[in-house]
Amino acid sequence: MTGKNMWIFLAALIGWLYLIGVFRVRRPGEPPLDKGFIPWLGHVLEFRRNTLQFLERMRKKHGDVFTIQLGGFYVTFLQDPLSFGTFFKESREKLDFRKFAQHLVRRVFGYETIEDDHRILQMANNKHLMGDGLEVMTQAMMANLQNLMLHNNTDSCAKESAWTEDGLFMYSYNIVFRAGYLALYGNKDRDESEALFYEFRKYDQLFPDLAYGVLPPKKRVDARRLMEFFWESLSLQKLRTKDSVSGWIWDIQRGKEEMGLSEEMINRYMFTILWASQGNTGPSSFWLLFYLMRYPEALAAVKGEVDTVLRENGQKIQRGGPLINLTRTMLTQTPVLDSAVEETLRLTAAPLLTRAVLQDITLKMADGREYLIRKGDRMAMFPYSSVHIDPDIHPEPRSFKYDRFLNPDGSKKTTFYKAGKKVKYYTMPWGSGVSKCPGRFFATNELKQFIFLMVAYYDFELLNPNEEVPELNQTRWGFGTMHPTRDVRTIMFQKKKHK
Ligand code: HEM
Repeated sequence: MTGKNMWIFLAALIGWLYLIGVFRVRRPGEPPLDKGFIPWLGHVLEFRRNTLQFLERMRKKHGDVFTIQLGGFYVTFLQDPLSFGTFFKESREKLDFRKFAQHLVRRVFGYETIEDDHRILQMANNKHLMGDGLEVMTQAMMANLQNLMLHNNTDSCAKESAWTEDGLFMYSYNIVFRAGYLALYGNKDRDESEALFYEFRKYDQLFPDLAYGVLPPKKRVDARRLMEFFWESLSLQKLRTKDSVSGWIWDIQRGKEEMGLSEEMINRYMFTILWASQGNTGPSSFWLLFYLMRYPEALAAVKGEVDTVLRENGQKIQRGGPLINLTRTMLTQTPVLDSAVEETLRLTAAPLLTRAVLQDITLKMADGREYLIRKGDRMAMFPYSSVHIDPDIHPEPRSFKYDRFLNPDGSKKTTFYKAGKKVKYYTMPWGSGVSKCPGRFFATNELKQFIFLMVAYYDFELLNPNEEVPELNQTRWGFGTMHPTRDVRTIMFQKKKHK
């Protein structure tokens, strides 16, 4: 190597080392910095293996604010729930949700975001996932749930009085996914939704590695094939052949078209929102039903509430009689079930909330500490570890207590404390701030409808009454509701047949 080439090589090497963050040092006023031992990758392997365990380790080492290197990014984690307000109230010019989401959505759904297209989603959400629009969607969900849960078993007289044995995860996920899908994307035939569910489950399993960009090449081919399947299945061409497509889907579709988005991209977007709307509700319905079955006093309390609501609304389950009409008002008369839903999500919903830092900011903590956060970094919070299982906020945090979110007078409990101070963000299954789940009211209704119908129409029990609570699949931290590592055998019996 000549002297000149040597200098070029050295300059390139230093530039590269700079880019991969080797020279980054903690500046005065910044949070503790932990780069890990592997250049550029930093802690990504340990983080990916078990996010919860890793973040707990970092918190013990550095306290409740720290910056770590993850795959080329410096991410500052804020783990003090009393200081979350700062994070959520910071302006979009400083902390931005979109930039991060755009990158992820391109990688996992093949969708290229265009300027201002989030507005279309927000308008459709405001119209259909809240207020009167929500009522229409909830009714559609109810009709599909009843259809799938009750008519399935009336096909043959032989099944009339039979107990059936099933895996609870697959049963709940299948029913809630398909009913939700049919309510949103319209009806065609029963087999179509079944096939879609099985393909969705395959994609579901590839999703975490795909999102982190660590899917092996063969599986990447599978993921691509599945994406193409969904783009095609949810395409405008297919939607046009269906009945009762929801206003939510049509408005998003129309809005995107008016913005000049190609049909191909709109089809891809339809897959994005299928994922957002169906990926968490099925697993959540499993956990809710499982916990109720596992804790008989919880199930008894919910059953008592369902009986009362039916009686007070003049409805009865009768052999051969009409199906119950579970109205919106009835769904607001279930504080016990509401608390059980919230407790289930506290134990099983674990989103990772991330923002891109667009300008240098000063993070002001509730106790007066201040930290400088650099432009170009990311900020994140993982409420599962900092809130959901904090024993200060939720005593015996690993236990399921169906009435944790109830006051002694039966009203909703909203006051929780940490170190004697009231905690505003005492559970965060839906995220918070600009990216807070717009489907949360619909999702809660879906979960309640499913349980209501199960309790009203079925007898069910765990095959093993002392069944252990399944472990959470550690590879899914950060992606919403966790999955169990195994299914749970259950037996079910439809009490009374209906028209
Ligand atoms: C138990 C069920 C559900 C859970 C736990 C859940 C959780 C979440 C979370 C945590 C986020 C925010 C992610 C972030 O900040 O990065 C989110 C976003 C979103 N959710 Fe949900 N969700 C559920 C059901 C639904 C349903 C049923 C719908 C629609 C009908 C829906 C539609 C959406 C959409 C469209 C977004 C993106 C919002 C945006 O980009 O502004 N979700 N969800």
